[in-house]
Amino acid sequence: MHSIQQYRKEFITYLEQKIFTKEPATLYDPITYILGLGGKRLRPVLTLMTTDLFGTDYKKALDASLAIEVFHNFSLVHDDIMDAAPLRRGQQTVHEKWDLNTAILSGDAMLILAYQYFENYRNDTFRELAQLFSKTALEVCEGQQYDVDFETRDDVTIPEYLKMIEYKTAVLVAAAMKMGGIIAGASLKDQNYIYEFGKNLGIAFQLQDDYLDAFGDPDTFGKQLGGDVIANKKTILYLLAMQSGNAEEQKQILDLYSIQPQDPTEKVNTVKAIYLSSGSEKRTKLEIQNYTQKAFDILTMLNLSEEKKNVLREFGEGLMRREV
Ligand code: IPE
Ligand code: IPE
Ligand code: MG
Ligand code: MG
Ligand code: MG
Repeated sequence: MHSIQQYRKEFITYLEQKIFTKEPATLYDPITYILGLGGKRLRPVLTLMTTDLFGTDYKKALDASLAIEVFHNFSLVHDDIMDAAPLRRGQQTVHEKWDLNTAILSGDAMLILAYQYFENYRNDTFRELAQLFSKTALEVCEGQQYDVDFETRDDVTIPEYLKMIEYKTAVLVAAAMKMGGIIAGASLKDQNYIYEFGKNLGIAFQLQDDYLDAFGDPDTFGKQLGGDVIANKKTILYLLAMQSGNAEEQKQILDLYSIQPQDPTEKVNTVKAIYLSSGSEKRTKLEIQNYTQKAFDILTMLNLSEEKKNVLREFGEGLMRREV
């Protein structure tokens, strides 16, 4: 086994070999730009780590991990258009730095590149990876569409929300891990358990993404703080505030979520104050722990040594402590 830093370093070296600009530069520059902005590299690290955990040389998983990270970055380029986001990883988003058409086409090219990396696998492995990837990519689209549909609804339920984040975020984390299982030839049982582990960890991850969008540190967060409030996103913070806030707090949130002020500062500050006063902020933190624990509970079913399970637990704990 290696440390998370080692998997990340190895992954970045591979990415830098494989991703470079060619002509037309207006198509490829945005791709090297967004992939070069860094990010946590969470998903590719998970693919490499899972391959290793199931006893196969993690280098065999480099192409799959690259496919996953390129797909993830594609989804961010298009997500930032859909969310009208100005900032990503502390820099301008692709559609801001270039323009809308560039972000659409460079994004499309990234999706195709992601598929291409799977062509380096053969036979059953190729088929299983490609099948899982297509299913997952389509689910991400479904989740993203729900997310946008929810902006203009005021009757979104928590089960609907959970389905939405499972699709837009958690299934990719789950698939990143299952791909490690596929490449390592793990049993179907273990492949499914590691998928469920990744899914619950992914749900916790998106809950925390919602949390940080409101309460992250502006110096390190790298995205526009309060962006979800500005876009009237039905986040876990919003839904729990509507559940446990008093009548006045609920009415205020509903009113604020029905307007799009030129200067959103007051809207964001008031909504955040209600997240705190209603107890929603606290309950969100508990839900993050709750879903992380659900992931840990699944580990008991996995056919891996305690030592290896601890690697996965530490990874989950690390995610809960993240500020970015
Ligand atoms: C952001 O993902 C989009 C979500 C699914 C929440 P990450 O938080 O993994 O983004 P990077 O790659 O580290 O920047
Ligand atoms: C992103 O959800 C999910 C995908 C990109 C598929 P968000 O819209 O919350 O992600 P951020 O906060 O912009 O990174
Ligand atoms: Mg977004
Ligand atoms: Mg979004
Ligand atoms: Mg977010």
